[in-house]
Amino acid sequence: MNTRVRKDRRKRQILIYLFWGVLIIGLTLWLTSQKNRPSEALVSDDILLLGKEVYAENCATCHGATGEGHAKIQSAPALNSSEHAWHHADGQLQRLITDGGKIMPSFGEKLTDDEIVAVIRYFQTWWTQSQLDSQQSLSEQDPFK
Ligand code: HEC
Repeated sequence: MNTRVRKDRRKRQILIYLFWGVLIIGLTLWLTSQKNRPSEALVSDDILLLGKEVYAENCATCHGATGEGHAKIQSAPALNSSEHAWHHADGQLQRLITDGGKIMPSFGEKLTDDEIVAVIRYFQTWWTQSQLDSQQSLSEQDPFK
């Protein structure tokens, strides 16, 4: 009788551990998937997939994996919505990436025009809708060449 009660209690304890275990693992998986979501969800077109690749290989070391900036080189600005990358028209972004800056290397030799446009479209997925709207009106004056 007594051992039965003990066994039942033991079973219940195991079930409780299982419940918490599954809950914690589930929550962790869910949180990680949320973290990767915003840009992943937008990256569906071929051009954005190309841009993502170009970015990871050529830009992430300085500008950070998700455009947060100030990675290997402290003066490399953020390309996401947090600083002022979105104040530049498409044409200006294209010239800067093609020709380079004071510290930033030029990519005109290394990347094709299509790859440069793709990487710009890619980091633009990190901008807010109102930043995109205002940058779009600038780009009407200074579009991609
Ligand atoms: C060696 C580090 C480095 C690499 C690699 C690099 N950048 Fe930069 N980038 C910088 C720095 C530093 C600046 C600030 C201007 C300067 O001093 O050259 C900058 C500026 C910029 C700006 C202007 C942002 C603003 O707010 O004015 C853009 C856009 C940009 N980079 C995009 C890119 C892209 C796209 C790539 C990859 C194709 C890339 N960068 C690779 C260091 C880098």
